[in-house]
Amino acid sequence: MKVPDIKVTPPGPRAKEIIERDRSYIATTTKSAPVVVKRASGSIVEDVDGNILIDFAAGISVLNIGHAHPKVVEAISRQASQFTHFAGTDFYYEIQATLAERLGKITPGKHRKKVFFGNSGTEANEAAIKVAKSHTKRQMFLAFLGAFHGRTQGALSLTASKAKQRAGFFPTMPGVVHVPYAYCYRCPYKLTYPSCDLYCANIIEDVYMKTVAPPEDLAGVFVEPVQGEGGYIVPPPGWMDRIAKIAKDHGALLIDDEVQSGLGRTGKMWAIEHSDAVPDILTMAKSLGGGLPIGAAVYPADMDFKESGKHSNTFGGNPVACAASLATLDVIEEEGLVARSAKIGEHLAKRLDEMAERYEFIGDRRGLGMMQATEFVMDKHSKKPDPKRRDAIEKDAYQHGLILLPCGDSAMRYIPALNIPRDVLDAGLDVLEECFKRAAT
Ligand SMILES: Cc1ncc(COP(=O)(O)O)c(C=O)c1O
Repeated sequence: MKVPDIKVTPPGPRAKEIIERDRSYIATTTKSAPVVVKRASGSIVEDVDGNILIDFAAGISVLNIGHAHPKVVEAISRQASQFTHFAGTDFYYEIQATLAERLGKITPGKHRKKVFFGNSGTEANEAAIKVAKSHTKRQMFLAFLGAFHGRTQGALSLTASKAKQRAGFFPTMPGVVHVPYAYCYRCPYKLTYPSCDLYCANIIEDVYMKTVAPPEDLAGVFVEPVQGEGGYIVPPPGWMDRIAKIAKDHGALLIDDEVQSGLGRTGKMWAIEHSDAVPDILTMAKSLGGGLPIGAAVYPADMDFKESGKHSNTFGGNPVACAASLATLDVIEEEGLVARSAKIGEHLAKRLDEMAERYEFIGDRRGLGMMQATEFVMDKHSKKPDPKRRDAIEKDAYQHGLILLPCGDSAMRYIPALNIPRDVLDAGLDVLEECFKRAAT
């Protein structure tokens, strides 16, 4: 099969029809490229007009093991033939306990853990908010500018990646204070690592806790170990450890949002494992279900709600999603995908670095493992963000058979499945380079 293979420039006629119906009947959300999928397997997508595209978006970092992995498909159909729902928060079934026990074992820290299951990253973070409040008996949270933790009113109050996400929706949950993230390419304090001595972390104690964030009221610090929607920003060495220490010194919980960065994406099982920090609560979703909706907040058993009815839902821990999750974890283990993400991620980063050298409009290449991005600028000297060029490249890419997804102000993420064959990865990067060439002329 020729990969990619564009027969009619997307969106083709059939795609246009479906997009029209989507626009008529589906709520306005965050649509990106007008790619309409018919079927997908591994890292290859066939659209409704017969085009074959390479997927570097992986369903927003959901398909770490690729589309429709046979083991996941098999696990889903096996479980679906037994029962599809039994309300796992109110009744009992084994597969949910099995998954919870396994998640407790594969997350950092050797203590016994408990898991609250929801259906999304947002719900995992909502659960984390409640666990932190009820355990610490405190009400405030610290989060970071550029953060994305979800869009429901509680999670939205932690999210701060784009003003429009919040505009018109106030009041959100009170008591959240945002602090600049460790964005070294555009250091908000115009300092340079390492001579800055992590000023952006120290300022939490030195300024924020003395002014707007009284530590005795601080329930937790929500942090993405690599900031995702905010632009795929990788903090410098030592930053996460410093944040963890500040939280611990003041009795606040470290809440590690691994919804986008987890399950091998960065070349470690959890992105926080690039540091020595051990989170108090870890939230995950996206790739956990191998394509089915599931989210989880994992925390020490002694932090659990002290009475029944404090938090619950209908679909959390759905048996089919649990089966898909267990199969996904098996695939990650059996195919050695954490190590592969680190290794093939080096190749991805190297090729992006080579392109960054060649093109004046790529200001920064950053990432860990298979969580990579480039930031588009007017020129390397001024570093003025160039979202228009980024958007034009995204369009040119899908028209030539490569599915990309933007992030941040002017960045593009490259997040193929961790098991993408090397030749498919290179074919996608070749398409990307052609797009850069055209953009440069
Ligand atoms: C880091 C992070 N947390 C939470 C969320 C929210 O997850 P969901 O869209 O599954 O609710 C996202 C989604 O992009 C995310 O990237």
